[in-house]
Amino acid sequence: MKHVQYSRYHGGSKALEYVEVPIPKPKAGELLLKVEAISNNPVELRIQDGLMKHFLPLRFPFAPGTDVAGEVVSLGTGVKGFRPGDKVVAHIHVLKGGGYAEYAIASSSRVVLRVPEISASEAASIVVAGYTALQSARQVGIKSLAGGCEHLNVQIIGASGGVGTILLQLVKLSGAHVTVTCSDRNIELMRNLKADEVLDYQTQQGATYTSPSGRRYHRVFNCAHFVPLSNFSAQLQPNARVIDLTPTRRSIVVAMVNKVSLRSPHRFENFYMWDNQEDLQTMMELMGAGKVKAVLDTTFPLCKAGDAWDHCLKRRCAGKIILCSSPPISS
Ligand SMILES: NC(=O)c1ccc[n+]([C@@H]2O[C@H](COP(=O)([O-])OP(=O)(O)OC[C@H]3O[C@@H](n4cnc5c(N)ncnc54)[C@H](OP(=O)(O)O)[C@@H]3O)[C@@H](O)[C@H]2O)c1
Repeated sequence: MKHVQYSRYHGGSKALEYVEVPIPKPKAGELLLKVEAISNNPVELRIQDGLMKHFLPLRFPFAPGTDVAGEVVSLGTGVKGFRPGDKVVAHIHVLKGGGYAEYAIASSSRVVLRVPEISASEAASIVVAGYTALQSARQVGIKSLAGGCEHLNVQIIGASGGVGTILLQLVKLSGAHVTVTCSDRNIELMRNLKADEVLDYQTQQGATYTSPSGRRYHRVFNCAHFVPLSNFSAQLQPNARVIDLTPTRRSIVVAMVNKVSLRSPHRFENFYMWDNQEDLQTMMELMGAGKVKAVLDTTFPLCKAGDAWDHCLKRRCAGKIILCSSPPISS
């Protein structure tokens, strides 16, 4: 089979190799999947750049790829609940990787059945992005996806990306009033996803995150880059919670200081996603019920994984970037 790998840290898309390797065999508790679609995540590029090399070094050659939709080919011993031929979606551990491939191994505890109406590309698009959206909303108290949060004003900075497009839809399901910030080319997309107010970050009003209707925010999600609280504290309610989905050294320090500060009227916190099969199931059900739509930016063939990485690096995509390993399997 073909898969994508790299043999050293750094080098970006140019270091990706599209090579022939043996089809892997599933061990106990694992499934072998014929991969139909993979979605990529910005963190994969940072891992290649050595993000984790001091505490969790990679073993080279390393094959990236975590968010995979495909068909079950065979089962390792002890796997229950799946059969060959099942259409599934899986989250492969980020340090195991191997999703950028024609066949991939996934732990059965990280796999859920795919709803038939959902294409492989759509399913692959809601794995890490879906976890992140669902779990970050929950972290700041937006737990209901059936109304109940009508009293909340929410701002989502960077709502047009892979995470933001899902987050916007989930927060709207909670009933909250949502103001989003994006560039002018994504305004229509934001309106289609039912944003109540859309700010263009290239305008003066957008740069200060000022709600057109004068609302002050109870919750702010930052999916774009670190923004100091002082840049928009005038737009916040007392006791507002600001959650940064893009932790950097600076935002981690800010969150730590904010936690022990008795003077700050607002909470600033970081977010880290974790793997959770139930959350993947929830995302699949929401999508199956038509409550959350996949937003897909560009689809690349697996052999063009480097082009997909270059596209991701620009940080201008609307929704998710998808890689397709082969033509979809007909059902
Ligand atoms: N903490 C965690 O566990 C976790 C998990 C998953 C993802 N993340 C992080 O969350 C962030 C978002 O992920 P993603 O997959 O959604 O990224 P993404 O798809 O690459 O985000 C691209 C989007 O960001 C928008 N954007 C860029 N600069 C902006 C700005 N200044 N203001 C507003 N929007 C801006 C772009 O819109 P325009 O084209 O209109 O500029 C584009 O639509 C990434 O940093 C990712 O690493 C964290």
